[in-house]
Amino acid sequence: MKIDEKYYRTIWPTHGAEAHKNDAMLAVEIIDQTMLPHRFEIKAVHCLEEMVTAIKTMQVRGAPLIGAAAAYGMALAVQSDASDIHLEKSAQALLLSRPTAVNLRWAVNRMHQHLAALPSEARHSAAWQEAALICEEDVQMNHAIGQHGLALIQSALAKSNKNTLNILTHCNAGWLATVDWGTALAPVYAAHDAGLNVHVWVDETRPRNQGASLTAWELGQHGVPHTVISDNAGGHLMQHGQVDMVIVGADRVTSTGDVCNKIGTYLKALAAFDNQVPFYAAVPSPTIDWTIQDGLSDIEIEMRDADEVSYMSGLASDGTVQSVRVTPAHSHALNPAFDVTPARFVTGIITERGVTTPSRLKQRFE
Ligand code: MRU
Repeated sequence: MKIDEKYYRTIWPTHGAEAHKNDAMLAVEIIDQTMLPHRFEIKAVHCLEEMVTAIKTMQVRGAPLIGAAAAYGMALAVQSDASDIHLEKSAQALLLSRPTAVNLRWAVNRMHQHLAALPSEARHSAAWQEAALICEEDVQMNHAIGQHGLALIQSALAKSNKNTLNILTHCNAGWLATVDWGTALAPVYAAHDAGLNVHVWVDETRPRNQGASLTAWELGQHGVPHTVISDNAGGHLMQHGQVDMVIVGADRVTSTGDVCNKIGTYLKALAAFDNQVPFYAAVPSPTIDWTIQDGLSDIEIEMRDADEVSYMSGLASDGTVQSVRVTPAHSHALNPAFDVTPARFVTGIITERGVTTPSRLKQRFE
């Protein structure tokens, strides 16, 4: 997507995708998302350990981008040591970096299997190629999700007799959460680019405020009309007919269509259900965990540092980014980062293969 008229993806190897052919030592560049929306900073990641840190600290975040970052983490690891034992250790380190987004496991396993089958001297070049392929596929899948979602938006607009369709989203499932396009926001960008009037209600998404800081920023960069709302406002807006559709992303979807996404998604789905607002999850296939059926019992929910609840950061009037405490000094806080929306509250799942009900998800991929 474009930032100030320049095209960016969220992750790329230094010197371009072909540089590994010269056996050059490469680094990976990322947009440091902990700095947005106040500063746009590109950061170079030089080794596996730095990539693990970038994932843990959420300089890169969002399920598909975590997968892409892990793939490049494997390429960086192989660059320093292409032995079997190092491949295994590096895969384990990446797998432990964040537990919920299944894209991480999917990408690490794909890289590991691909590289382990090759002689060690062929692994360096193959690792960079496979990581780049994972990124390309992500872009293609998200583009297809955008086109399928565009058809949904077109038909909702036609049925509604409204001039503008109001779409609510939670967290950031835009291009910053992927390599490009986004998942939940891909249909929004497709609709906006097709000249349809869409307006997005952006949940702020406490505690890390991915909605207020990232979704609002990227929609603004693309010129999409949007309004940031507090996390608790969505239900009220739905009761008053001001939300026509909810589209969220996901970190893991079960084979039965339970949707695990950023904490608070479940409450939006309940409110949508009560108000007959269609609730969609936009999900590229690497986000589907075909090995599990029950999202509530089978998905590990990441517990993050309680300080993310107790402190908030923002831009002070002197232009510096500052962190301030918002809870009493001795109050405990708890920070589960994701929740599960049971399939019964999900109207449809938008994948690269089209829109389907949760109960037909499996069939769609057979
Ligand atoms: O903790 P985060 O910021 O990595 O969580 C991101 C989300 O929950 C997104 O909604 C999800 O990964 C879908 S990304 C296309």
